[in-house]
Amino acid sequence: MEIKNVFVVGSGLMGGGIAQVSASAGYKVKMHDVEERFTTKGLEAIKGSLGKFLSKEKITQEQHDTAIANLSTTTDLADASDADLVVEAVFENLDVKKEVFGKLDEICPPHTILATNTSAIPISSIAAATARPDKVVGTHFFSPVPLMRLCEIIRGLQTSEETMAAAEAWAQSVGKDTVRVLKDHAGFIANRLYLPMGVEAAKMLEAGVATPEDIDKAMRKGYNLPMGPLELADMTGIDVLMNACNAIYNDTGDPKFYPPPLMRRMVAAGLLGRKTGKGYYDYSSGKQESYWEL
Ligand SMILES: NC(=O)c1ccc[n+]([C@@H]2O[C@H](COP(=O)([O-])OP(=O)(O)OC[C@H]3O[C@@H](n4cnc5c(N)ncnc54)[C@H](O)[C@@H]3O)[C@@H](O)[C@H]2O)c1
Repeated sequence: MEIKNVFVVGSGLMGGGIAQVSASAGYKVKMHDVEERFTTKGLEAIKGSLGKFLSKEKITQEQHDTAIANLSTTTDLADASDADLVVEAVFENLDVKKEVFGKLDEICPPHTILATNTSAIPISSIAAATARPDKVVGTHFFSPVPLMRLCEIIRGLQTSEETMAAAEAWAQSVGKDTVRVLKDHAGFIANRLYLPMGVEAAKMLEAGVATPEDIDKAMRKGYNLPMGPLELADMTGIDVLMNACNAIYNDTGDPKFYPPPLMRRMVAAGLLGRKTGKGYYDYSSGKQESYWEL
C-alpha cells in the first residue's frame, strides 16, 4: 500500500517529532491538535529543530525548505479524510485515545492505517474503538524523535501482516531502524528492559549499596552502556519513568515495575532530573554534579 499523506494527531513533543521526520522524508503531513496555540507551538518547535540541523549542516537549505513546505497544521480532525496513514500522539490516556480513534474510523477512508505512539496502553484496547482493528498498529518512537533511531512496530491482537509491513516500511522510510513486537505486551521491548533497570538502580541507591556515580559507572564500564540508569533517568524525567512503570505495573501486576519509595518521594519533591535542575544528580551549575550523601 502506498503512503503519501500522513496525518499526525497531537502536536506535542512526540507528534511534532513524528511530523518533522515524515515531512523531511517527503510525505505531505498535516499536524493536528485541539487548539491553534498547540499547533503553532508544535510548528515553532519543528522549525527550531530543522533550523539547528541546517546550521550544523546536517541538512541542506533545500531539504529544510522542502520539509517545511510539506507541513501544514489543522485543528479539524475531519482533515484526516485524505490520509493514508494517521499517527496518533495525544495524551497517554485510554479514554482520550479511544475517542480519537473512534472519530478517525468514521472520518478516514477504509484503506487508512491508524497508528498509535502509545508507550504503555495495549494496542488492542485502542483498536477496539474502531471497526478496523486489522489496520490499527503501534509505532513507538523514542524522544527526541529526529535524533533517536528506533521505532518499535507493535502488533495488536488483530493487526494484519499487511498493516505491520506498511507501518514498518513507512517508519524505515522516515529514517528509523525498526523492530517488530509480536505480542501486545506492556513495555514492548525497550521499556520492558530499561524500566526495571531504573527501578533496581533506585532501590540500590535507597538501600545505600552504592553512590549514583558508582551505580552509573558500573553499567557504563562493565556493560559498555553509553549512560548509566540513574543519569538516564535524570534525562528522561523521573516522573516520566515512574508513570511508565505505574502503567505497566497496573497492566501486568509485575512487581519489577513497581516504583520504589525513593522514586515516589523524589517525584513528590519535584526532584525530576535535568528539567528541574536536580534528580539523582545536581544540574544547577549547568554540569552533572554529585550531591548524594549515603
Ligand atoms: N515523551 C516521550 O518521551 C514519549 C516517548 C514515547 C511515546 N510517548 C507517547 O506519545 C504520546 C504523546 O506524548 P508527548 O510526550 O508528545 O505528549 P505531549 O503532552 O507533549 O503532547 C500531547 C499533545 O496532544 C494534544 N492532545 C490531547 N488530546 C488531544 C485530542 N483529543 N486531539 C488532538 N490532540 C490532543 C495535546 O494538546 C498535546 O499538544 C503519549 O501516548 C506518550 O505516552 C511519549
